[in-house]
Formats: sequence, structure tokens, C-alpha cells
Amino acid sequence: MRLQNRVNQESSALSVIPQPVFAQLTRAAIFLVVTVNSGPEDAAIVRAFCGDLAALLRAVGFRDLKGGLSCVMAFSSGAWDRLFVGPRPKELHPFQEIRGRHHAVSTPGDILFHIRARRMDLCFELAMQIMARLNGSVSRVDEVHGFTYFDDRDLIGFVDGTENPAGQAAIEATIIGEEDAAFAGGSYVLVQKYLHDLQGWNALPVEEQERIIGRTKLADIELDDALKPAAAHNALTTIVEDGRQLEIVRDNMPFGDLSKGEFGTYFIGYARSPRRIEQMLMNMFVGRPPGNYDRLLDFSRAITGTLFFVPSATFLENVAADTAAPPAVGPPSFKPGGQSPPDGSLGIGSLKGNRGNE
Ligand code: HEM
Repeated sequence: MRLQNRVNQESSALSVIPQPVFAQLTRAAIFLVVTVNSGPEDAAIVRAFCGDLAALLRAVGFRDLKGGLSCVMAFSSGAWDRLFVGPRPKELHPFQEIRGRHHAVSTPGDILFHIRARRMDLCFELAMQIMARLNGSVSRVDEVHGFTYFDDRDLIGFVDGTENPAGQAAIEATIIGEEDAAFAGGSYVLVQKYLHDLQGWNALPVEEQERIIGRTKLADIELDDALKPAAAHNALTTIVEDGRQLEIVRDNMPFGDLSKGEFGTYFIGYARSPRRIEQMLMNMFVGRPPGNYDRLLDFSRAITGTLFFVPSATFLENVAADTAAPPAVGPPSFKPGGQSPPDGSLGIGSLKGNRGNE
């Protein structure tokens, strides 16, 4: 009996908890990209912070438990090599710019904080607390405050997020499993900040806009195959391999700045492999076949583009400030493709107080 208890304890210590990459779509978000300053103590301060993020999130989230505050912390390829030693995520690399009919730029950034909540004040408070802790050790590269715009629409007027996978399908789309066992429970995230030429877009007839997106504008119904062009946005971003659709989870948000005349969409896509997001981008920017590109890009310009790796929450908790290497967490027991547990949860294990995952 005692032995059995020990086995249970040990196996639960080995379980890996993902970060809340598929947190429910929320009303507000802050996308914060920073670089780590060059001093050796700066890297140590960032490492020390990794293990404290969950407690900070609990403290701010507790102020409104219904606020659904969550935060994902992710690292670019260069930052990973500077902050951590030991094995690295198999598919982590700097985002390669794409030059096709349009240009998908690759821009700097070491760490992404994707903060989501039902209320912007919760997001803002957490962002302030994070920056206070990292003060002097990181430099801000980009900060975007996203909001939900009528019926989950983009500023171009279309509902965005409809075809996102949900539940177990979202886990299977985003969370690394046995293909990279040392980093199971992790994920990849690609962000791009787009600015729209709203005047040009709004000058198009609605039927033309609908053919560009591949859905109707008001009712958000997918266009019939007979009417949908091969260059429609939702056609070019549908990719199938070995008869299986390769999905990603998106949580795009509108943002804007009237004084600068900026009207944008912050694209954020999570996937268990960056290849599928990069393939979608190739289809959009170069075209499938080449030349058959995404006309949405005639009205939307990507001004940033960065790929990050999202380690599991367990990994973050185990990062030590001084060693530059998190202690091994052992073989993961988390299997994205596995059965949901009997409690009806998403099968991502105990949240250890990470309310954002609830
Ligand atoms: C200006 C930026 C973008 C805007 C405004 C935008 C907007 C939309 C809209 C309105 C839809 C249809 C509704 C839905 O299913 O969500 C959609 C679908 C989709 N978008 Fe985008 N999108 C943008 C960029 C991207 C990028 C960069 C990618 C991938 C790299 C992407 C991937 C997808 C996918 C996978 C779908 C669902 C396709 C399907 O299965 O029907 N989008 N997007």
C-alpha cells in the first residue's frame, strides 16, 4: 500500500502541465514583446522570474476570479539559447521572412507575454507587475492592447475565430506530445501585427470582401465551394497532410490608434509544430499555387513577425535563476492525443493554482 502511494506521488510529480495556450477567447488582451538586456545578471533575473509568474498571476487573478486572467510566456530561438542550457525544442528557429507577392517580415523579440482576461484592467495590472519585476532587465519591443469588436469581428468587419478547433481538438492542434518528448506539454506561437488599409477595404463591395475571406460578412457562413475562390483566405489557410487537416488555434484581436491612423489585427497562432503556421503563411504570401495569393494582404500589411516556443508551465516553475538550466522534469505523462480524464476536464492535469487555465 505504502509503495503504491509512493508510485502515485512520483507519477504525479512527473506529470507536465501546459501553459494556457487554448484559454477561452476573451474580451481583452495585451501582447507584450520584450528583449532581454545584455548583462549576465539580466538573464538571471529573467530566469528567476519564470518560476514566479504563476504566483504573480494568482495574486492579480484573485482580484476578480471571474475575470479569467491568463498569461502565456514564450521564448524566441535566440533567447532560448541565452537563457537555458541542455536540450532545446526540436523545431524552434528564428522566423524566416517570406517574400512573395507580399512580404512577411521577421522582427526581433526575445519573450512574448500573451495576457488575456475579460477585463483590460486585469491584463494591464498583470503587465505592470511583470514589467516591475523585470525592470531594467528587459526592453520593450512592442506592446499591443487588443479588444473585442462587435460579435468577435475584426476591424475589417468579419467574425474571426469561427473555425478554431475546440476542446480535445484544440489540445491536439497545439500541445506537443511524443514527437518531442523532452518538451511535451509545450507549444509554438507565431505573432504578426497587421495594419489594415480600412479605406481601401471598405471601398470594396461586400460580395468582393466575402470572396476574399471565404465567408459571408453578416451571418459568418462559409461560402459554398462553387462560389469560394481558391485564393479565399480560409481556403489558403486550410492545409491537409495525409488526409488530415493540420489545425492551429488563433486568438486574433483588433487594435487601433486613431491619432496614428492605425487600424489593425494582431494575429496570434498556436500550434504543436511551427511548420503548419509557416505553410499557411507561404500559401497566403506566395500563393497556392504560387501567384494565387491571399488578397486580404492587398489591404493588410504585416509589420512584425516572430516565432516563439511556449514551454510547459511545469518547465517554467522549475527554471532556476542561477544555473541557466531547469532541472529535468522527467518523462512527461501528458499525452495530447490521450483520453480525457473522467472529471470531464480537458486532460491538462491539475492547474496548481494557475487560474488562467480554468
Ligand atoms: C490580417 C490578418 C488576418 C485576419 C484579419 C484574418 C481573419 C480571418 C477570418 C475573418 C477568418 C474566417 C473566420 C474564422 O474561421 O476564423 C479567418 C480564418 C482563418 N485564418 Fe485568418 N486572418 C488573418 C491572418 C491569418 C494568418 C496570418 C493565418 C495563418 C498563418 C490565419 C489563419 C486562419 C485559419 C487557419 C482560418 C480558418 C480556416 C478554416 O478552417 O476555415 N489567418 N481569418
